[in-house]
Amino acid sequence: MRLTEKNINDLNRVKRLNLINGVSGIKSANLIGTYSRSNTNLAIISSVVHIGSDPALLGFIMRPSSEVKRDTLNNIESNGYFTINHIHESIIEKAHYTSAKIDSKISEFDVCSLTEEYLGDFPAPFVQECHLKMGLKFAEKVEIKSNGTSMIIGELKELIIPDECIDDRGYIRLDRIFTVGIGGLNSYYNLKRITTLPYARPNEIPKF
Ligand SMILES: Cc1cc2nc3c(=O)[nH]c(=O)nc-3n(C[C@H](O)[C@H](O)[C@H](O)COP(=O)(O)O)c2cc1C
Repeated sequence: MRLTEKNINDLNRVKRLNLINGVSGIKSANLIGTYSRSNTNLAIISSVVHIGSDPALLGFIMRPSSEVKRDTLNNIESNGYFTINHIHESIIEKAHYTSAKIDSKISEFDVCSLTEEYLGDFPAPFVQECHLKMGLKFAEKVEIKSNGTSMIIGELKELIIPDECIDDRGYIRLDRIFTVGIGGLNSYYNLKRITTLPYARPNEIPKF
């Protein structure tokens, strides 16, 4: 099948949304935990990306905030901190339902039966059930003019990672902690490491 821009635009709205949400391939599966004066909030987010390692920065895309209230964004902007928690196989369903549009006064932690965890004096909730989790300080909001979304960038302040999935060179084995990936907006995949390759130097390219 070949689809031109016109063919894509002619698809019905839901089919186009499903298709375009899927074409970027497997995305990371995370829960973003935030806190405001009145409540906590938890949201599944599939757009977390690495921005840089020194300083350690991660970002994610938030959909437009003009039409609907965005608890995650409001909390981050008012409180200045958030957590990113890897979703693993045993909590997929609970994590998925954090995407429901729930009243701000009700916490997705309660509705989805996930446990708030506070570590030291870090001012945002981690997800106790998650194995790999990060605490970040809000650094920057970058408006994406093309579609009104924004990228929220945070600086890594805390990293909680099980010893059994990190080696002495810092490489992480995501399969050992059953982290999952997301296709589109509703398909979840498990991860299997296929291989590990060396840094690609121009003079060391194999003869294929
Ligand atoms: C699999 C999946 C991935 C999602 N990824 C994102 C995302 O990357 N960015 C976003 O703004 N919303 C994303 N959502 C939607 C949010 O989870 C949803 O809007 C949630 O209600 C936001 O929480 P809030 O309104 O409490 O801030 C995703 C939903 C699902 C089911």
